[in-house]
Amino acid sequence: MKGFKNYLLASVCVSGMCFSSYGAVPDSLMRTEPDRQWEYVPSAEILSARQEFADAGFGVFIHWGIYSMFGQGEWYLNSGVNAKEYAKAARGFYPAHFNARDWVSAIKASGAKYICFTSRHHDGFSMWDTEQSDFNIVDATPFKRDVIKELADECHRQGIKLHIYYSHIDWSREDYPSGRTGLQTGRDESKRDWSAYYKFMNAQLRELLTNYGEIGAIWFDGWWDHDNDSVPFNWQLQEQYKLIHDLQPGCLVGNNHHITPYPGEDIQIFERDIPGQNEAGLSGQAISRLPLETCQTMNGMWGYKIKDQNYKDTKQLVQLLVKTAAMGANLLLNVGPQPSGEIPAAALDRFREMGEWMRENGETVYGTTAGVFPAQDWGVTTTKGKRIFLHVLTPTSTEIRLPFANGERIKSAVKFGSGEKIRFTQKGRGEAVLHLDTIPEGVDYIVEVTLK
Ligand code: GLC
Repeated sequence: MKGFKNYLLASVCVSGMCFSSYGAVPDSLMRTEPDRQWEYVPSAEILSARQEFADAGFGVFIHWGIYSMFGQGEWYLNSGVNAKEYAKAARGFYPAHFNARDWVSAIKASGAKYICFTSRHHDGFSMWDTEQSDFNIVDATPFKRDVIKELADECHRQGIKLHIYYSHIDWSREDYPSGRTGLQTGRDESKRDWSAYYKFMNAQLRELLTNYGEIGAIWFDGWWDHDNDSVPFNWQLQEQYKLIHDLQPGCLVGNNHHITPYPGEDIQIFERDIPGQNEAGLSGQAISRLPLETCQTMNGMWGYKIKDQNYKDTKQLVQLLVKTAAMGANLLLNVGPQPSGEIPAAALDRFREMGEWMRENGETVYGTTAGVFPAQDWGVTTTKGKRIFLHVLTPTSTEIRLPFANGERIKSAVKFGSGEKIRFTQKGRGEAVLHLDTIPEGVDYIVEVTLK
């Protein structure tokens, strides 16, 4: 388990800090929200799905839709573009090179255990054959193929979980009551109709959870569109979450709202920051006891951005994965496929190299829990019972200090993989020091310490 022990406790709103990362909705108001006024008791299926999720360590996020054609990221419609004009692009969307088998194979070979795919992003375009709107990949494009169906079938065939990203926001539909984004798309505000929109979303979720086999999680995004409202917007999450759990009792619910989890949620998501860090400004919320996930881009953007070739290198990505695991969280690493349907070559290279690393060292990530002590200047730790994996990432000395604070005593220390003995000193219980022959170089020098 990754740092969450008390499932029941975890499932109700965790007390303590509750605040929006934008700071607009005060704590006291949020606590009175109807969606926080109930107690969620997760089923046995959910508890085991949470465990499986926490053990997975690594997933791949895919942002792909008609926005990819513009090569400017998934928020392009928000840049002063008219929604009706934007929708015309669908008529030219023909990703001739899309091949679910190639995608899933490349991702699986990276060591990722699940894929999270954007079924419908804020632009409102659905990537499956939905009956709730014609603005979808089968009815509105010459491609006419149900991408979710092809992906789901392939994920099931190759034995990798499929999670589905679903936007609460819709910048194209007039019934969506707009919040603080997508205000220049030319919609008639007088037509806003929450109850119609809510029905639409739930009918879509019903399709996704009925027609595509097992879905590992529904991953919501967009709650924050209304975080500036003076009275908290009522998203009616309770009923929606219940619908999901009723349709698929093992389907996890996550919401990228950047605040403390609501009852009914099974995982806690952090955007662009490892839990406990807040460099991107979206992660000031308290860390709950739910399984954790950090989503991060491989370059700087989620959807394909032609100008952004600033990909993190494999060393950075492996170290990011390890640091995320050391905080007890999974890394959901994003890729934005090209309009052709191909995953950018730079991303494929990194998937391949990460896979090579994971095949040798995955044991120190999969199924581990958070580190025994906080990150040190030399690196981080992950834990599996009495086995502690020291990930020496940025050493500046041959002496590696281990500030044990709970009376741990070292039984043995070996180089992970080769089993070569590593010298250590420890006086009684408490701080220990490893003595390496040279300052290690490379991506991650792993020492396996076994405690008495
Ligand atoms: C943000 C963005 C969105 C992206 C998501 C991924 O919420 O609005 O475009 O899909 O982050 O974490």
